[in-house]
Amino acid sequence: MAQEVRGVIAPGKDEPVRIETVVVPDPGPGEAVVRVQACGVCHTDLHYKQGGIGDDFPFLLGHEAAGVVESVGDGVTDVEPGDFVVLNWRAVCGKCRACLRGRPWYCFDTHNAKQRMTLTDGTELSPALGIGAFAEKTLVAAGQCTKVDPAVAPQVAGLLGCGVMAGIGAAINTGNVGRGDSVAVIGCGGVGDAAVAGSRLAGAAKIIAVDIDDRKLETARSMGATHTVNSRETDPVEAIRELTGGFGADVVIEAVGRPETYRQAFYARDLAGTVVLVGVPTPEMKLELPLLDVFGRGGSLKSSWYGDCLPSRDFPMLIDLHLQGRLDLGAFVTETIQLDEVEQAFERMHRGDVLRSVVVL
Ligand code: APR
Ligand code: ZN
Ligand code: ZN
Repeated sequence: MAQEVRGVIAPGKDEPVRIETVVVPDPGPGEAVVRVQACGVCHTDLHYKQGGIGDDFPFLLGHEAAGVVESVGDGVTDVEPGDFVVLNWRAVCGKCRACLRGRPWYCFDTHNAKQRMTLTDGTELSPALGIGAFAEKTLVAAGQCTKVDPAVAPQVAGLLGCGVMAGIGAAINTGNVGRGDSVAVIGCGGVGDAAVAGSRLAGAAKIIAVDIDDRKLETARSMGATHTVNSRETDPVEAIRELTGGFGADVVIEAVGRPETYRQAFYARDLAGTVVLVGVPTPEMKLELPLLDVFGRGGSLKSSWYGDCLPSRDFPMLIDLHLQGRLDLGAFVTETIQLDEVEQAFERMHRGDVLRSVVVL
């Protein structure tokens, strides 16, 4: 039987979010209903609210979540009621060209749940990134659920569903940071800090954090940065070269998404280094580079989507590392909040006051 729960809705472009009653249908074949326990507030939710990701209003926000499977539909065998799961927004198909070529994170046939949740008047809701987890319960595809060790707190586990995975994965999966490497991370918000933590995990010898905000640099240090550069005061490319014996970093991770920081990342790498682009630019942004520099610098330039993660491989592994005390995922949770505080959390995020606010249900 369909159930009625409370959820956070973005009703229209730039309108404040509000709590509405959401109708969650029973899971169909291949689907699961999850009782959400925690869901982080991510920039992407704000972009939905601002109309930056299409105008499919009303949106049911929230996509960085963990919870307990309540019920499953026909044919679901990987998870069962009672399982503690982290949700992912990319349930890979396992059959398309990308999946078969061993790059499932580029899957172009992701099997997220169909949009079947509604308001009580029947209005169809668009769940953010196919999840919609600022709600007491949500309907997802079973493949969006990854079972993890229930010993971890839900507000910590949920972070892996998006930003923290994007950052750690940028370092360990896309950038392939190795023992002894020098790494520079440009932009130390939640994603950049996770890249710092991932680089430390991978055994990087030097981790240079770059930001324009001293508060962010301080946090980056606690996550494992060995050096910090305030790029408002110091040219970051020069500083990174100086700190790496004049060569540039083996891996530079850009986690801002602006032309000037893309340029800095391009020039701050060692000639044979790797640039990993995580920051998402807007459609009108452009960057002009001398072709001779593009040709003359070797190494590689990679973009990283969702940290090139494979949830079934990476979520349980990172949670194990956290439980062993080798990765402090709890450090990313600045505050826990209630479902009706999401609007204020967006404001704090906009001011740069928090790494992550996490709604706990
Ligand atoms: N140079 C260096 N740092 C900058 C600059 C700049 N020109 N401009 C902003 N920053 C810093 C901010 O001070 C902040 O610490 O970049 C950081 C951005 O962090 P957040 O706003 O918290 O964003 P985050 O969630 O970390 O995401 C960063 O990654 O996945 C993408 O879409 C996401 O593009 C976004 C990026
Ligand atoms: Zn696929
Ligand atoms: Zn997100």
